[in-house]
Amino acid sequence: MQCFSLCCIPLVAMAPAHADHQLRLSFLVVVAGAAASALLLASPADAALPRVEHAPTKADGSLAILAVGDWGRRGQFNQTLVAQQMGVAGEKLDIDFVISTGDNIYDDGIANTSDPLFKESFSNIYTAKSLQKPWYLVLGNHDYTGNALAQLDPAIRKVDSRYTVIAKSFIVNSGIADFFLIDTTPFILHYWNNSKFDWRGVAPRDTYIANLLNDLKYGLTTSKAAWKIVVGHHPISSACGHGNNTELKEILLPVLQTHGVDMYVNGHDHCLQRVSSRDSPLQLLTSGGGSRAWAGKFKTTPDKVEFLYDGQGFMSMRLSKTEAHLAFFDVAGSVLHCWSLAKTTATAAGP
Ligand SMILES: *[C@@H]1O[C@H](CO)[C@@H](O)[C@H](O)[C@H]1NC(C)=O
Ligand SMILES: *[C@@H]1O[C@H](CO)[C@@H](O)[C@H](O)[C@H]1NC(C)=O
Ligand SMILES: *[C@@H]1O[C@H](CO)[C@@H](O)[C@H](O)[C@H]1NC(C)=O
Ligand SMILES: *[C@@H]1O[C@H](CO)[C@@H](O)[C@H](O)[C@H]1NC(C)=O
Repeated sequence: MQCFSLCCIPLVAMAPAHADHQLRLSFLVVVAGAAASALLLASPADAALPRVEHAPTKADGSLAILAVGDWGRRGQFNQTLVAQQMGVAGEKLDIDFVISTGDNIYDDGIANTSDPLFKESFSNIYTAKSLQKPWYLVLGNHDYTGNALAQLDPAIRKVDSRYTVIAKSFIVNSGIADFFLIDTTPFILHYWNNSKFDWRGVAPRDTYIANLLNDLKYGLTTSKAAWKIVVGHHPISSACGHGNNTELKEILLPVLQTHGVDMYVNGHDHCLQRVSSRDSPLQLLTSGGGSRAWAGKFKTTPDKVEFLYDGQGFMSMRLSKTEAHLAFFDVAGSVLHCWSLAKTTATAAGP
């Protein structure tokens, strides 16, 4: 696997050759299965999140993805510059898809599927050729203070076919990696005191969260992918302006740690940040630099802050079944920080 920039060095040796061969065989079966599937599959059973099958297109099954959050401001606050640089990086990395960590449209989401804000903040901004790929999105609190259901409405894909939110929480199966997109806004207690939030299909909170966690556990337990990546809007642990969220730390984090999740990717804090958990291999990554940034406010977190940038930008992720290469880019497209993770044979083989 070629390294995109100079500072990407694998941390752990590659798996032994014989094990690698075995993995490759089982991997081919997974890809073949995924390729044969329909693009959008309904939930196969109760306690299962809806799934999108996104079969990898590269011959070796590797994936390249960009993640951006907190962006939709009609191009303002450097949203347009970040979008242009995403286009450049997307081209170089030959990306498969884009992930949005939420707060897709400011200040209050969209009013309906024909709201002009949608085109002004999405279609007209992310115009680069390399970004004409599916976008898989979670909602943020700002999406929830508008018509939250409009972003899930299939009619939105008639306006822009990239915009893929098949449910508030869903799974993207992509061969070597499964992405679990999780609706975190209902977790945050103080939002329930704010009458602007669109809780249709959510209230009562306790039942919604219990069902979501059950579905997530089921999805993680049955996942055969080498990489399990969870995406939500709110940080679990953060040293940027909003800081960590006690609710997520108490309810969501234990599920991620006991089910072998490799990374949790979030927005909400308008910064780029890499935090390592002190009691598990989990990486907690903030990519919330899609437009307005430079808050100049910081919090403390008990976890290990490896990197923090208060400005605009986005994150790239390149995955093979044994290695992950991650990077944060700034508004000018310069790599600010990059690092690699490696899978041991045991974890790469999955459950
Ligand atoms: C936009 O980016 C430029 C650097 O290219 C910076 O000077 C400027 O302050 C940024 N604007 C905002 C609103 O963050
Ligand atoms: C959709 O929302 C926009 C923006 O609020 C509004 O101008 C328009 O009338 C709405 N359209 C429909 C069909 O309700
Ligand atoms: C919600 O509002 C009530 C009444 O004002 C207050 O007692 C409670 O602490 C608030 N809860 C949160 C989580 O903000
Ligand atoms: C972050 O978590 C630590 C302990 O888990 C707590 O002491 C601290 O108050 C939290 N910070 C914020 C901003 O919530």
